[in-house]
Amino acid sequence: MIQEDTIKQIKERIDIVEVISDFISLKKSGSSYKALSPFSSEKTPSFFVSPSKQIFKCFSTGKGGDAIEFLMLMDGLTYIESLKYLAKKYGIEITESSNENYSSSRQSKKESLYIILKKSVSYFKECLNSIDGKKIAYSYLIERGFEKTTIDLFDLGYSLDKWEDTYLFLKDSGFEEKYILDSGLVINKNKKKYDRFRNRIIFPIHNVTGKIIAFGARILSDLKDQPKYINSPETMLYKKSEVLYGIFHSKNSIRSSDKCYVVEGYTDVISLYQKGITNVVSSSGTSLTNEQIKLIKRYTNNITILFDGDEAGVKASLRGIDMILERDANVRVILFPEGEDPDSYSRNTNPSLFKDYLVENEIDFITFKVNLLNKFIKNDPLKKADTIKEILISISKIPDTIKRSVYIKETSSIIEIEENILISELNKILISKNKFELNTESGKKVGVRNKKVVLIDNAIDLQEKECMRMLVSYGTSEIDSNEINRSSFIKYFLSEIEDIKFKNKNHVKIIQCFRNELSKDNVIDTNYFLDNGDEEIKNEVIDLLSSKYELSENWKQRYNISITEEKEILKKATYNNILRLKFRLIQKMIKDNIKLLNQKELSIKMEKEIILDHQKLKNIEIEIANELGNVTSK
Ligand code: GTP
Ligand code: MN
Repeated sequence: MIQEDTIKQIKERIDIVEVISDFISLKKSGSSYKALSPFSSEKTPSFFVSPSKQIFKCFSTGKGGDAIEFLMLMDGLTYIESLKYLAKKYGIEITESSNENYSSSRQSKKESLYIILKKSVSYFKECLNSIDGKKIAYSYLIERGFEKTTIDLFDLGYSLDKWEDTYLFLKDSGFEEKYILDSGLVINKNKKKYDRFRNRIIFPIHNVTGKIIAFGARILSDLKDQPKYINSPETMLYKKSEVLYGIFHSKNSIRSSDKCYVVEGYTDVISLYQKGITNVVSSSGTSLTNEQIKLIKRYTNNITILFDGDEAGVKASLRGIDMILERDANVRVILFPEGEDPDSYSRNTNPSLFKDYLVENEIDFITFKVNLLNKFIKNDPLKKADTIKEILISISKIPDTIKRSVYIKETSSIIEIEENILISELNKILISKNKFELNTESGKKVGVRNKKVVLIDNAIDLQEKECMRMLVSYGTSEIDSNEINRSSFIKYFLSEIEDIKFKNKNHVKIIQCFRNELSKDNVIDTNYFLDNGDEEIKNEVIDLLSSKYELSENWKQRYNISITEEKEILKKATYNNILRLKFRLIQKMIKDNIKLLNQKELSIKMEKEIILDHQKLKNIEIEIANELGNVTSK
């Protein structure tokens, strides 16, 4: 157990912006920060961090909380692990109460696996420095041009040419059999156990935070019947499709250079890194997955793929890269001369020439594809139509309209076809794509009438939320700074909403808390909800506190009110907001009332009443609309 005092000290020291920035790139936006959600694969940012409230909120998944909760979600850490991580980050020494005994059986499985892998790395490193290791493996690495500092930095190691050395080492270290097997280092076949990696160079694979989660292992001799590389199997810690080799070492450099080079192999990463190109990761021999693209996009939007010279590889990768375009990243390509990969080419070139090569040979992906396909169609007009279509499909994946039109221009000039023709073809593709989405989104058509009712319901929910946002944001504020008229926001707010029934049950509870406390002359702030009790209410409050950012854009457009001015005109803003809610509620009442008219067996008397009600409601609607109209015209 970590002592209470230490926990307090850590919490006081946390800066949520700093903590989250270690994982994703935050962009300042007003008084908050925003980013693409790390929890979903979205294309427009809906992830917000508020430095003043020290909370984050992800609108695409609904997740939210403080820095500790972020770490738990982001890295699958436990509460205690998150605290330890933060303590390390801020240089706070942890005092654990001594009565707690951490036996290995009590630790979670995940923690045990981390420990086993960490221990194995030091073992593999020892083996690399053993007599055999030096002779066979270390010399190989040096011969390949890897320097000692590089070997150390990437934790490279060696597994001995024995059948059960690693297994015995782990057993002797006191790890439980089942965890040793779960780690993937040992294979259990016909009740016989033997090491997965034998006589191989070991490339430890780190996760984003630097923990070892798996290994790649390269053969030393050229045995024909054995694969050049073998990897750890998928484990609790290692999902191949979500991992990028090198990401831990390169993430800061990727962020600061705002660019990520993607290569094929482990050795390519290490060689480039050694040459000073530190913003590089490897997809480990496969084309990039969606998860990997998401991971890169935490740090940059600019992805450059480095290809080997052979044509087969290039053509196979073409399709995979459309995926990156879809994610709205800028994809560029660098091609290496025939027979060279980034590792070999960098070894044969001096660092500054190599860097020049990267700069001079980088072309954007669409241009690359157009050029490549253009080569094939030179003498075959029949193929031309198909090829153009393929290029246009790639372009249609790009969400950004302006970017699309730039590429259309470029394509037009390279393959010598009029821009207008390309645009009209592109539009056909885009329209058919839209149709498809509409068709698959829901089985049946949604009638316009129903849609309107749904829209009003949404408008009520949004407006109710907006009122609640003001309540939790300004609960302790005064609404008139004018000395004579000083009065509290909370009193004003509660009196204005007296005749409104809130829909959301959490909202009702929150309002009730404010009322109760006010009746005891207490004014409560947001900590009241964050610190004690009800998890659901706490999440609701976090949600509300962050909803300002979600709404602010709509607001500016619709009401011409800047959210930053809100504090200065708090009374007016409160009044208007509640009025807008009333407006929405009236509209709903009108709709419901009209529905009554359509009932069967309606007496004439009832019909008259309904119509009378309708007129009354309409009058109120007009009244409020006018008032809101006056407000917005100011
Ligand atoms: P070196 O030959 O040591 O320079 O390695 P390389 O990285 O250049 O190898 P290559 O270009 O052949 O392969 C690129 C990447 O694909 C490797 O780094 C591995 O991640 C992966 N890979 C290559 N061969 C195998 C294999 O036999 N099995 C598996 N699972 N992966 C492989
Ligand atoms: Mn290579």
